Amino acid sequence: MKAKDFIPQSNLETINTGKVTWQSPSNIALVKYWGKKKNQIPANPSISFTLNNCKTITSLEFTRKKDSEQKGDLFDFEFYFEGQKKEDFKPKIYTFFERIEEYCPYLMDYKLIINSENSFPHSSGIASSASGMSALALCIMSLEKQLSSSISEDYFYKKASFLARLGSGSACRSVQGKLVVWGEHANIDGSSNLYGVEYPNKVHEVFENYQDTILLVDKGEKKVSSSVGHNLMHDHPFAEERFKQAHKNLAALKDIFKSGNLNDFIEIVESEALTLHAMMMSSKPYFILMKPNTLEIINKIWDFREATGLPVCFTLDAGANVHVLYPEKNKTEVFQFIEDKLLVYCEKNQFISDSIGLGSKKL
Ligand code: PMV
Repeated sequence: MKAKDFIPQSNLETINTGKVTWQSPSNIALVKYWGKKKNQIPANPSISFTLNNCKTITSLEFTRKKDSEQKGDLFDFEFYFEGQKKEDFKPKIYTFFERIEEYCPYLMDYKLIINSENSFPHSSGIASSASGMSALALCIMSLEKQLSSSISEDYFYKKASFLARLGSGSACRSVQGKLVVWGEHANIDGSSNLYGVEYPNKVHEVFENYQDTILLVDKGEKKVSSSVGHNLMHDHPFAEERFKQAHKNLAALKDIFKSGNLNDFIEIVESEALTLHAMMMSSKPYFILMKPNTLEIINKIWDFREATGLPVCFTLDAGANVHVLYPEKNKTEVFQFIEDKLLVYCEKNQFISDSIGLGSKKL
């Protein structure tokens, strides 16, 4: 599909008022998206595990503006986060509405009230933009479905992911599926730069219910935002090689998902995490998002893996927190290790137990 296919038809139905609610999860990339082109087009393809417990619940109440009210040029909305009116979140949502205006012009005909809450602490350093933007995009699509009842389920989810991408790139991987690919890849059928698609090929049973224990090393605000980081990939001396490597790693993961070879899986996943941070450290200006405790944890994981042979590995997103990944069948031993050896490196011993989830859900 092309971007223009997401522009709605002009003969929409009239709905005066309503409310829709969606829950949408966060996701953790295995092959990382870092660097983008115009209009949130990724510089390389990525793939992620959808999470189950880290999620945002968002409701959208809409009331059609009266003819006497100003119409057609302004987005009229209120935003509440966990019950509190949040003026400071509004500019980000306003920018999102401006980006999607061409695809959702009907938004300007309504007064909107958005209520959002997270299942994880907002300041945990866990990316809430992926779950938040995908939940909001899905609510908008539920409104569109009421205005245009003939749209297909496939179109609904593709456009939800397309819109979520315009809010925050990685959010497009939080709409549907356990394992989601975003970005065109020669060996993955249906992959697109415009939206995420569920990974279409065979996945070995060892990845069923894969575990992700998120160690909260640093709950503070990030010093450098993802959007600044993505921009630093323009003119980055290693960018082209990195983008090629992501294509190669995704091709290799295709075989790994089929065979269930966890040694190869670990090598790619850890290398991707360290490469992401290496890109940050070699940008101009350079920056470091890992903390000393991030490295302590990585070293402890390597020691544990060597000593026990258990297939536990780490990945990182754009922050200091560590995602510890392992098969469900090793849960008891690995969790014991996390409790005994790793929680001491977390802020107030805090962590989130998560595992692969199915994607968003209408409530
Ligand atoms: O979606 P953004 O713009 O916040 O970028 C997220 C990038 C990483 O989390 C670092 C990697 C990824 O693919 O999710």
